[in-house]
Amino acid sequence: MEQLLQQIESYKKEISAFEASTADAVENFRIKWLGTKGLVKTIMGEMKNVPNERKKEFGQILNEFKLFVETKFQSLAENNSGLQTKDSELIDWSLPGDPIALGTRHPLSIVRNQIVSIFKRLGFAVAEGPEIEDDWHNFGAMNLPEDHPARDMQDTFYINQDPAWLLRTHTSSVQARVMEKQKPPIRVICPGRVYRNETISARAHCFFHQVEGLYIDENVSFADLKQTLYFFVQEMFGKDTKVRFRPSYFPFTEPSAEMDISCLICGGDGCNVCKHTGWVEILGSGMVHPKVLENFGIDSNKYTGFAFGMGVERICQLKYRVNDLRLYSQNDVRFLKQFTGAL
Ligand code: DAH
Repeated sequence: MEQLLQQIESYKKEISAFEASTADAVENFRIKWLGTKGLVKTIMGEMKNVPNERKKEFGQILNEFKLFVETKFQSLAENNSGLQTKDSELIDWSLPGDPIALGTRHPLSIVRNQIVSIFKRLGFAVAEGPEIEDDWHNFGAMNLPEDHPARDMQDTFYINQDPAWLLRTHTSSVQARVMEKQKPPIRVICPGRVYRNETISARAHCFFHQVEGLYIDENVSFADLKQTLYFFVQEMFGKDTKVRFRPSYFPFTEPSAEMDISCLICGGDGCNVCKHTGWVEILGSGMVHPKVLENFGIDSNKYTGFAFGMGVERICQLKYRVNDLRLYSQNDVRFLKQFTGAL
């Protein structure tokens, strides 16, 4: 008899210590103790060996034991409801999760968006044009004469020679597209991809990105051009950035100027990026050539305008110190990941 009591005590200890983390384990517990061939049944069967005078006492002990097992089973079942049903599906919730890779904008998109948003605040609208252009919109309308070197096969990707279809070499072609459809006042900013027949290196690529600007109205002067671009530079690169204009030549503007900013890399002291001059060129600009206006029936006696064109890669190089153009199109995640979080 005493042996039986001991057995029950040790069963109770085993049951108290038992824990289950899967529905399978709970089910195994039920089968082991409460099943038709379970241990509770077996130990109940011992009643027949108990002498009559102790049957009442033992009956009570066994009933309590059975209740004990059933209570334990109930609590196991409750704690495990909603968990996986199979051991093989067991998840260790304490393991660190897989990192969620955050998507990033391409650095050129970030910079283009910044440029566009600055000009939008000045009232410029966004205009786009086709990347496959005809000779007229890319060259002729922009006052590039027939024999201009830019039209050379060496510099331009021609899709078709006669009539000439080509990959646009600059976003100035969008100026033509806009003037074709719109009457002054015109105030547009034109971001886009352009193509040139260049050997790919750290400093040249066969495609890159530009943002073009065009502003035509009555009484638009060179002072307006300077002030607009000066505002842009301060917003883009900070209040301390200095600018300077150098006389230049573009067939579609007269007069023309290139704009430099004080080198952001060395602060103007001189470094490789500014070729030790303290200045870096960031854009071309000028007053729209009267011939260009007349090409679109805009009266050049009544209206004047300014235009400018800048390279997005260049601005990106200065902002993020990217010094190899090839990085932009190699899709190396180690490069692209560095721009996480930027807008
Ligand atoms: N189209 C010129 C280029 O690709 C850039 C440019 C210069 C655009 C002067 C303009 C401008 O609108 O006025 O190099």
